[in-house]
Amino acid sequence: MLISKIRYIHALGVRCSSSHYVTTPIFYVNAAPHIGHLYSAVIADAHCRYQRLRYPDRNVRLCTGTDEHGTKIQQAAAGHKIPVAQYCDEISARYRDVFKAAGIANDDFIRTTEQRHKEAVAHFWQTLQSRGHIYSAAYSGWYCVSDETFLTDSQLRLDEESGTRFSLESGHPVEWTEETNYMFRLSQFQDDVRHWVKQEARIRPAKFEKILLDTLSEPLPDVSVSRPSNRVHWAIPVPNDDSQTVYVWLDALINYLSSVGYPNEKYLKQWPPAQQVIGKDILKFHGIYWPAFLLAAGLEPPQQLYVHSHWTVDGQKMSKSKHNVVDPIQAAEQYTMEGLRYFLLREGVAHSDGNFSHVKALRILNSELADTLGNLLSRACAKSLNPQQIYPAPHAEESSALLKELDAAKRMQESLLQMATRCEQHYECNHFHLVADTVIATLHATNNFFECAKPWELKAGASAANAPRLETIIAMTMDALRLCGIVLQPMMPQLAGRLLDKLRVPGDQRQWKYLASHVTSSSRPLDAQSALLFQRIVEQQDNKPAPEKEKEKKESKRSKAKKQNELKKNKQASSSST
Ligand code: MSP
Repeated sequence: MLISKIRYIHALGVRCSSSHYVTTPIFYVNAAPHIGHLYSAVIADAHCRYQRLRYPDRNVRLCTGTDEHGTKIQQAAAGHKIPVAQYCDEISARYRDVFKAAGIANDDFIRTTEQRHKEAVAHFWQTLQSRGHIYSAAYSGWYCVSDETFLTDSQLRLDEESGTRFSLESGHPVEWTEETNYMFRLSQFQDDVRHWVKQEARIRPAKFEKILLDTLSEPLPDVSVSRPSNRVHWAIPVPNDDSQTVYVWLDALINYLSSVGYPNEKYLKQWPPAQQVIGKDILKFHGIYWPAFLLAAGLEPPQQLYVHSHWTVDGQKMSKSKHNVVDPIQAAEQYTMEGLRYFLLREGVAHSDGNFSHVKALRILNSELADTLGNLLSRACAKSLNPQQIYPAPHAEESSALLKELDAAKRMQESLLQMATRCEQHYECNHFHLVADTVIATLHATNNFFECAKPWELKAGASAANAPRLETIIAMTMDALRLCGIVLQPMMPQLAGRLLDKLRVPGDQRQWKYLASHVTSSSRPLDAQSALLFQRIVEQQDNKPAPEKEKEKKESKRSKAKKQNELKKNKQASSSST
């Protein structure tokens, strides 16, 4: 059934095969951005940056934005005593600013309150209606404002004491609602959606495919796609029926279409999305409702959903009430924005929740960015070893001699030879943590080569005959840094950019294909900018979270007591021996 629908959809327009359209979820404007939100955006951004490096002919497009309608936003604005439109403007601008500060290279930032989006929603609604997929019905159920969805009994937890029901997914309370709504015939798309989910690499990581298939093993109920306007007024009106407004999730999902110009046919040049990045909490909406809505409208569903897990903070769910929400701008003051990007991509894995801890962030950033990457660049650029401040050309006979004489040189070379292929495989799957592992392993091998080659023993003045070897050691080290810099660009565009600038790697030689090219054949001067890539982060006592301070206090008390005990024992021992 689905295959014939897709064929029909293809006939609507010629899809541009070089298009690679990527989306992030659009973010609710009921609260300021935190690192979890930034994580969705950084994954999508790093994915797109890799695509642009690896496939320069592809038309890569990244869209992000804000989700601004519905009860949740209505209530948040009322809570702040600000007119809702102004409230949306303010919070939406904060998302835009955070993403800009974090180097998210989005091609579009869509807001669901924009006219272009309202037109797309109206057109989509009319398409569903004209195809007979919408009907009006009396509807009752438990509505969760925080999740913006009706929930079934199996999705609820009853607190026996208070008699209140809560959403199992989010833990927020639900309210009983009886109203006349428009319903979407979701039940008719069960087989089609299942077929779509089961396609190779459709849902990644695979564990989320299993979750969807489990949900699809039970009959799908039809879903309500409108709310009465007198209850939810901050929403898009249903075409030709002002008494109802469009359900916020249908409204929100259509952003992916409005951004590429739907309903103007030009949208087909970029449709369907190659990858949609989402968090695990919104899997049902993107993995069941969304393909069903699209198929019902005669449109092709996305090629892949990339689902990531969540960040906890020191083992706890992030929440305003726990006062543990990590603000990306504040975190960047300590770690730098590039450091924060690196930490999120290096430490986060899509298939399970990650824990954001200050201690871990310090350890990783100091050891990998400052001590391993930064230190190597500083050493290769040190005036004592490199007085002319050049990226020297290697001497062929010295390179061969080093490779023959030093195991460390061979290990570095092997690591470099494998790096491009391995990192390519990892980037293709959004396995950024494995990209980081591979690059850091290569940098360790290069640091080790530098140590074993002892360039400081060949410094000018020792003997002029040493110059070719010294230059070759620096050239081989800088070349390893150049290659690591190219690979790291999607994860840390600015830091990798500064590294490549320092080495004066021309802008048009930073693409993926240059990983296969060899060292420069003639020496070139280094850029005059500082070689300090990443300043070691020094712990500031006041920045430590309370439990860590407590732990340290206890540890220092314990070690003081231990020392005093030892002193006592020593004294006793010496007095008994005299
Ligand atoms: N507005 C909806 C999405 C509509 S898309 C058509 C929404 N917004 S959200 O602001 O609540 O969440 C946006 C994204 O942030 C989701 O992918 C969500 O999973 C992600 N995160 C929210 N908290 C998170 C963590 N603690 N950790 C990681 N990501 C998290 O849902």
